[in-house]
Amino acid sequence: MSGEDEIIEALKSVQDPELNMSIVDLGMLKKVELVPGAVNINIDLTIEGCPLKDTLQRDINKAVAPLGHRKINVYFSSMNPQQLEALKQRLGAERSAKINSYGKGSSKPGEAPGGINRLAKKVPNLIAVSSGKGGVGKSSVTAQLAMALKREGYQVGILDADITGPSIARIFGVTERPLVEGKDTLIPVPSKSGVDILSMNLLISDEKAPVIWRGPLINGAIRQLYANAKWEGHDYLLVDMPPGTSDATLTVFQSLPLDGAIIVSSPQALVGMIVEKSIGMANILKIPILGIIENLAYIELPDTKKPFYLFGSLKAEAMAKRHGIPFLGSLAIRPELADACDLGKIDSIDVPIFHEIAKRIAETRLAASK
Ligand SMILES: Nc1ncnc2c1ncn2[C@@H]1O[C@H](COP(=O)(O)OP(=O)(O)OP(=O)(O)O)[C@@H](O)[C@H]1O
Ligand SMILES: [Mg+2]
Repeated sequence: MSGEDEIIEALKSVQDPELNMSIVDLGMLKKVELVPGAVNINIDLTIEGCPLKDTLQRDINKAVAPLGHRKINVYFSSMNPQQLEALKQRLGAERSAKINSYGKGSSKPGEAPGGINRLAKKVPNLIAVSSGKGGVGKSSVTAQLAMALKREGYQVGILDADITGPSIARIFGVTERPLVEGKDTLIPVPSKSGVDILSMNLLISDEKAPVIWRGPLINGAIRQLYANAKWEGHDYLLVDMPPGTSDATLTVFQSLPLDGAIIVSSPQALVGMIVEKSIGMANILKIPILGIIENLAYIELPDTKKPFYLFGSLKAEAMAKRHGIPFLGSLAIRPELADACDLGKIDSIDVPIFHEIAKRIAETRLAASK
């Protein structure tokens, strides 16, 4: 048996304290490496900043110490959402629930589960528009919802958290650079309809130039678009989320003081499966889900104006029911909307269902604040 195999064998006795299963069987042991004078052990926690980290560290040291290595270095990182989802599926619902409740009761106000510090609150209603899947209409729904809330009389802003694929500024046809107040406070740029916008595209000199950044820079930019901007005075700040459930999404969910998330789906089965991951992520991070909107659900037949459901009827409604989440409505495919987005003229679009959706969101938030 090599030295590394021996260490792995010893680590099999270390259990995750909540799940009562070996960290090796749970796939939490990422790497064991013998280096001159030490052994390096890399562990993937199920949740970033897991409160059980100290217990694990102690148990690992205890298990490996008898093998006589001079120094034992334990490095912690966390599973990505896909690995976590795979693990949860393997464990089944009952055991997975234990992962969801890690740190429950121990997270203080202003902290995400696991003790991550959230940025300070600036607006009464900070809402992420999320999906898990790309191209389902997050940005166009964010824009239309923002305009509908504005029509209800609220001051509304949009933070475009899609750093590498920003589209909010383009959809609204806004190109001006944000003014800077004081040393480094960005003033969001108003669109024609009066919705204030901040997007990476307004901060780079050429909107077509790619932003080729790694995770930490992207995460830093998202935090800055919130922390270093004058969002105070807005009643609603909507966050247009990047596609996927990876690093950038996690940053928004963990570090912005969100009051809720709206999930956008479309009726194809594969999309539904991926959107469920987004719902799971919001649940893990204890972000209340304010509702699901199904986009691209049907077309209106030109002569009869009757809806024709291209991919079968209202799958998101069933998904909402399954999760006990409000279903906010389904949206038609409208060529004029696609054109308006391409031409930067979303302000010219007014789809009546968004009036109802905006009213429902406002009522839900009002009830929550009482
Ligand atoms: N209901 C609709 N009818 C017609 N076109 C739509 C509709 N919803 C969205 N689109 C168009 O589909 C494309 C994708 O929409 P959008 O950019 O809003 O999606 P997204 O989820 O934000 O995408 P990404 O994941 O890339 O950020 C856009 O060109 C948009 O104009
Ligand atoms: Mg988008």
